[in-house]
Amino acid sequence: MIIAVDGPAASGKGTIARALAQHYGLPHLDTGLLYRAVAANVARLELDGAIEADAVAACDFDEALLDDPILRSDAIGSLASVVSAHPLVRAALFHRQKRFAYQPGGAVLDGRDIGTVIAPDADAKLFIRATPNIRAKRRHAELRAHGSTISLDKVLADIRARDLRDSTRSNAPLVPANDAALLDTSFLSIEASVQRAIAIVEARLQA
Ligand code: CDP
Ligand code: CDP
Repeated sequence: MIIAVDGPAASGKGTIARALAQHYGLPHLDTGLLYRAVAANVARLELDGAIEADAVAACDFDEALLDDPILRSDAIGSLASVVSAHPLVRAALFHRQKRFAYQPGGAVLDGRDIGTVIAPDADAKLFIRATPNIRAKRRHAELRAHGSTISLDKVLADIRARDLRDSTRSNAPLVPANDAALLDTSFLSIEASVQRAIAIVEARLQA
């Protein structure tokens, strides 16, 4: 069983994907971390993420980088959305995600293009949404809790810029798959979001 969870920044897709993975006893992959690792490697190597060859050179990152707290920063999230627009970067990370999705027993993946590109024949696809203001408040609270002094206005501006870049790129843009169920978490608690997500998956499995 493959479950694809896509959506914009701080929509709740990671929280929902982790809960679904636990509920169904499946392994989970946060694919955004891979793009964040490329971005962190671009910064570490002092490369230019806007240049495709530079971003590609940063795709060969050390696995330990995936656990580095630096990946959670707002700046790395924004740089991830720059490097992820390059087709050759997406190609470099494609097989790893594909292998994870199609492993025996199944998997839950969250990102931007899981239901459209990585696992187009997933058994259940969810597209998670929330208003930009609510997403900015959630992300701001998270960043603050981890010691950042970033302002809410800056987080909101970065989220809007990232939404625009992610949804207008020509390669694997952030758009719901035709057969994705839409779930707006703007006014839902985490618990309620997870219950809705499980109900959606159950309905898909019985269809
Ligand atoms: O957690 P958050 O939604 O803030 O971001 P993320 O999922 O860690 O993704 C960071 C950036 O990586 C996104 O803004 C996308 O540009 C890119 N990304 C992507 O292009 N495709 C994916 N499957 C996952 C992330
Ligand atoms: O993975 P993504 O960036 O889409 O979002 P997330 O990391 O799952 O959630 C971002 C923040 O919003 C986390 O602090 C969640 O606990 C919180 N959240 C929430 O307050 N209400 C929800 N219904 C879902 C997530």
